[in-house]
Amino acid sequence: MYRIIMDCDPGHDDIIALMAMLAHPETFEILGITTVAGNQTIEKVTNNALKVLDYLGFSQIPVSQGAAKPLCREPEPQPDAHGESGLDGPVLPPAVSKTTGLHGVRFMEKILLEQTESVTLLATGPLTNVALLLELNPEAAKRIERICLMGGSLYGGNILPRSEFNIYHDPEAARIVFRSGIPIVMSGLEICDAAAVPLDAYPTLAGGGKASRLTVDMLDFYTEYSRVRGWSDSAIFDLTPVMQLLRPEIFTGENYAVDVETQGELCRGMTVADFTGTWDAPKSTCVLKTVDRDAYVQTFLESIRKLDSVIG
Ligand code: BDR
Ligand code: CA
Repeated sequence: MYRIIMDCDPGHDDIIALMAMLAHPETFEILGITTVAGNQTIEKVTNNALKVLDYLGFSQIPVSQGAAKPLCREPEPQPDAHGESGLDGPVLPPAVSKTTGLHGVRFMEKILLEQTESVTLLATGPLTNVALLLELNPEAAKRIERICLMGGSLYGGNILPRSEFNIYHDPEAARIVFRSGIPIVMSGLEICDAAAVPLDAYPTLAGGGKASRLTVDMLDFYTEYSRVRGWSDSAIFDLTPVMQLLRPEIFTGENYAVDVETQGELCRGMTVADFTGTWDAPKSTCVLKTVDRDAYVQTFLESIRKLDSVIG
């Protein structure tokens, strides 16, 4: 059983990652959700988390609003990828639930200090909240067993030629996290692309229950990016770290010391894995490298159908 704090910027793929966990209460206990500015403003991503939880019937999961901007930069929302709301596509009733009122970082701190068992931090947005936690309360941070994150790349980029969005958005925060020595499992662009879901796979959910319908509505919007480029599949980035926790046997990875470029003119937010062992730094990041895509896609679809039956 993984005891999870999810730090996220929902975002279609963040919500699908959350739904995959909600489908498996035997594997995931979600202790709370914290939000961070990324795909959209902090108010919008927080509202998206609340309204989806209300819609799916999981309003008891506490949501805390976190950092409104990166540590030393201005936010750069991504309406092209996620729309003006950050979750364009599905039409959901307005959120009824409220946030806890605690700042996301204070909430993480509280949850961690209360735990007697280890906690997995799942991070699917920029790493601002996580870095603040590590800086402000190292004692609480010691309770984190591992950080499973979507971010970075070995070679590629999606916001700059060599930079992935989550790390690009707050590179200074990402550097603090990658340098922390806490074990990290990194789902970078390459593994997310290797696990891309064929565009003709998710429509098989149409006609299903609430979770299936929400997934189809979200992916109809989200996969437009791939469709207009003539691609036959679409990476559901933030789902990958959840799938790795759920089906570790279908992945392989390799350990490296990973650091982040914060100053580069061309490479802001580039993650650099030390392939050569040059740095005197712990190889604390397991970079996921291969995945059985068929098993991944099947597990994703089964999870959404399972959530349909969990929520009834
Ligand atoms: C990441 O950026 C966001 O658009 C997604 O939610 C994902 O976390 C992919 O680069
Ligand atoms: Ca995200």
